[in-house]
Amino acid sequence: MAKLSIFVTLFFIPSLFALDPYTKFTQLNLPPGIIGPESVALDRLNQGPYTGVSDGRILVYKGPNIGFEDFAYTAPNRSKQLCDGTTDVNLGPTCGRALGFSFNNIIGVLYIVDTFLGLFAVGTNGGPATLLANSADGVRFNFLNGVDVNPLTGEVVFTDGSLNFNFRNIVAQNAPSNDSTGRLMIYNPITKQVKVLSDGLSDPGGPVFSLDQTFVLYAEFYAKRIMKYWLIGPKANTSEVLLNLPGRPIKIKRATTPGEFWVAVNIFIDQPQSITPFGYKINSFGEVLLIKEFRAQYNNTQINVVQEYNNGNTLFVGSRTVSYIGIYTKW
Ligand SMILES: *[C@@H]1O[C@H](CO)[C@@H](O)[C@H](O)[C@H]1NC(C)=O
Ligand SMILES: *[C@@H]1O[C@H](CO)[C@@H](O)[C@H](O)[C@H]1NC(C)=O
Ligand SMILES: *[C@@H]1O[C@H](CO)[C@@H](O)[C@H](O)[C@H]1NC(C)=O
Ligand SMILES: *[C@@H]1O[C@H](CO)[C@@H](O)[C@H](O)[C@H]1NC(C)=O
Repeated sequence: MAKLSIFVTLFFIPSLFALDPYTKFTQLNLPPGIIGPESVALDRLNQGPYTGVSDGRILVYKGPNIGFEDFAYTAPNRSKQLCDGTTDVNLGPTCGRALGFSFNNIIGVLYIVDTFLGLFAVGTNGGPATLLANSADGVRFNFLNGVDVNPLTGEVVFTDGSLNFNFRNIVAQNAPSNDSTGRLMIYNPITKQVKVLSDGLSDPGGPVFSLDQTFVLYAEFYAKRIMKYWLIGPKANTSEVLLNLPGRPIKIKRATTPGEFWVAVNIFIDQPQSITPFGYKINSFGEVLLIKEFRAQYNNTQINVVQEYNNGNTLFVGSRTVSYIGIYTKW
């Protein structure tokens, strides 16, 4: 099955590139000095985008006249004087650093993973977010990086990339690629309990529920693959490889068509050093539907998320290292 997917992927790459309809690009520049809009999301009224940035703030875009405004923050003692405008990752535990977002559109709550501080939630008015959890099975979270809300049950799935290295190592580019201590976890908003679904993972990220509630997808960055974790049925509680990729996957997000997803994938080459950023649109069976290359606008820069809105007409692109949110629209 996995072999077949690889074959299909390679075979169709030329035509998948040719089909790319997202040819128009604009960008929303962040306030001066800050970088790293790693997560990008719209709320239930299609307002935003909201994004988490290098100085720990969660910002909301209020249109061209107003620009970005403060929306929420995670660090309980965050000082605007110390933190606003910083790109210093060492201030992360003090200022906060939100790397993953997911809205529960039914109750109007934004779930946030702060990579240093834990899993948080904040309501539609923003302000200080509430800490929901910072450990599981007695082990403190170390590198939270992705989160998704189940649109029907309200459960929250999230990933901790590693118990051994954290976001500071990612920024310093000295994280060991042979690590396998990451965890996939689920938070139940009724019991307020966190359960570890799977551990021993290779820098997992990007978890996402399927709309039909049958599985969760997650990415293994260093293993260059997308995994499917079954929630129900005979394979419940087990994972299988859905798709092997030519590059390293980060976040996975549901596309607007049920059963389809966007994966941020970066091909890293060491000698000579280069990064080519892509979005892979895939379906529940691991078939690749579209490959969008972002190099024309992002050059050698990695991207972290591709988030589709507006019935598939708009792609928002988030990246840890740039100072803007990219927006691609069709033709
Ligand atoms: C926040 O400040 C209070 C009071 O100074 C202190 O007790 C607490 O430990 C601080 N919390 C964090 C996370 O720094
Ligand atoms: C990972 O690689 C490093 C450096 O190559 C090595 O020192 C370390 O023992 C390896 N760790 C594991 C868990 O294999
Ligand atoms: C999966 O785990 C749940 C909870 O631990 C258990 O109730 C269920 O029987 C398991 N399913 C299978 C197929 O192992
Ligand atoms: C990519 O290169 C162009 C042209 O040199 C430059 O304008 C742009 O800012 C670069 N983008 C990034 C993300 O580095």
